[in-house]
Amino acid sequence: MSDGTYTATLTGLGTCLPARTVTNDDLARRLDTSHAWIHSRTGIARRRVADPGTGTAELAAAAGSAALASAGRTSCDLVLVATTTPDRACPATAPRVATAMGLTGTAAFDLSAVCSGFVYGLSVATAMVRAGTCASVLVVGAERYSAIVDPEDRSTAVIFGDGAGAVLVERGGDPAGRGAVLHTELGSDGTGEDLITVPPGERYLRMEGREVYTRAVPAMVGSARRVAEAVGWLPGDIDAFVGHQANLRILEAVAKRLDLPPERVVANIEDVGNTAAASIPLALAWAADRGRLAPGDRVVLTAFGGGLTWGSAALLWPDVRPVHH
Ligand code: COA
Repeated sequence: MSDGTYTATLTGLGTCLPARTVTNDDLARRLDTSHAWIHSRTGIARRRVADPGTGTAELAAAAGSAALASAGRTSCDLVLVATTTPDRACPATAPRVATAMGLTGTAAFDLSAVCSGFVYGLSVATAMVRAGTCASVLVVGAERYSAIVDPEDRSTAVIFGDGAGAVLVERGGDPAGRGAVLHTELGSDGTGEDLITVPPGERYLRMEGREVYTRAVPAMVGSARRVAEAVGWLPGDIDAFVGHQANLRILEAVAKRLDLPPERVVANIEDVGNTAAASIPLALAWAADRGRLAPGDRVVLTAFGGGLTWGSAALLWPDVRPVHH
């Protein structure tokens, strides 16, 4: 994925978070849990939850429109929606998202890679732009986990949140390479398919948290190392590491093994929880808003999740201002 004809450049970044915040104390009022347990074990203090009438497509369209606005565009060649929580099993969510954005007629499809969905989508978008198939691809990570989380299951109900984030990837771009997606790498391990799953015929997600944790750390470290090596960076060259926000302790363990100082690790899990495919673009926007990402910074994105799946991307941060819906 590094030897295409064109450069693929990240040019826009947008988000949409539902208005309603649910705190740990809110959850502790109806579940046998506490703020202290949740915060110390996961780093999460609060998460956003969509109203029952708000679907994944609506969140996705809002984030997608925000990303186009951030890039100063009104259209794109392809809308790619990464989600674990489509509003319907059939058809895909993306055509509805494109139409909601006023882009009826534009190519649109969903991608399912659970918490790695955004990085998988970014990899597909990069490859299509590099190959010349598309001049611009909108990659949206959008989730409404509140639809598949059992409100009575304290081991998952405290972890997940709703939201959407999106980036625009375009052909060409800055001569200095700012925004260039340099390399991506992806992997999977189906032996772990039962560790994060909605079992056939059931409504709710089940997760073997401890086992997922144990597998996540080495998989993320390996993936981040491989993507950095492919572009000639030592782990110490990474200016910002933006990992999937599943658990603050996972991010800290990965950073330690990569020898990265804490200030280079982006973590917004405290405010939004685990938003699966939306997690990395939401973290990128959070960091950009706070001046934690400067144009030209060497950024590594690494995700891990259900499937099991994982993936990383190495890119140079663009001169971009996130737009929030
Ligand atoms: N509040 C209070 N206690 C809780 C609890 C909660 N919300 N959830 C679980 N517990 C209890 C368990 O029942 C268990 O009790 P026991 O020791 O009496 O049996 C104890 O806490 C420890 O449970 P365990 O699951 O081993 O905790 P943990 O330290 O592994 O933390 C997770 C649980 C889910 C936070 C953690 O495993 C995790 O983050 N896993 C990774 C998830 C992930 O990365 N997903 C990514 C893909 S999306």
